[in-house]
Amino acid sequence: MPYSVDDCKLLKLPKEAESNLTCLNDRSILPFGVKRIYYLYGIIEKQDRGAHAHKELFQLILAASGSFKIELDDGKSKKELFLNKPSQGLLIVPGIWRNLTDFSFGSVALVLASEYYTEDDYIRNYDEFLKYRQDNV
Ligand code: TYD
Repeated sequence: MPYSVDDCKLLKLPKEAESNLTCLNDRSILPFGVKRIYYLYGIIEKQDRGAHAHKELFQLILAASGSFKIELDDGKSKKELFLNKPSQGLLIVPGIWRNLTDFSFGSVALVLASEYYTEDDYIRNYDEFLKYRQDNV
């Protein structure tokens, strides 16, 4: 069964109260194994990121610094979230179109991903995404 935007959850990540430190080493926190970590930074004013979907990839996205918005779209429903805490991460499941917008100055988006990078996993055209969702009900 294909995933919906409701499967994209905001996860409360563990935080060491004394030292402002978050450690993600427990499968009960992260519902996938991490093969790749990358981060977006140096984002200029009004620059948006994303505008694509993935076919198989699970990701956890968090604001390691600053804040940004994420719009999620499963072809039928949409939802928008605001990330501004390193101790909070957004789980994005496969088959979800996402746009990252409204980055604050100097913000850093940290992404933990379930698979290595491959362009074959991307859908970068919105009409193709809608067709992919219709074909994969
Ligand atoms: P992309 O995922 O489109 O970035 P964003 O959605 O944040 O704008 O990737 C931007 C470019 O970087 C694209 O040419 C693919 C490349 N890239 C890699 O080579 N490896 C990676 O792990 C990622 C995420 C992107």
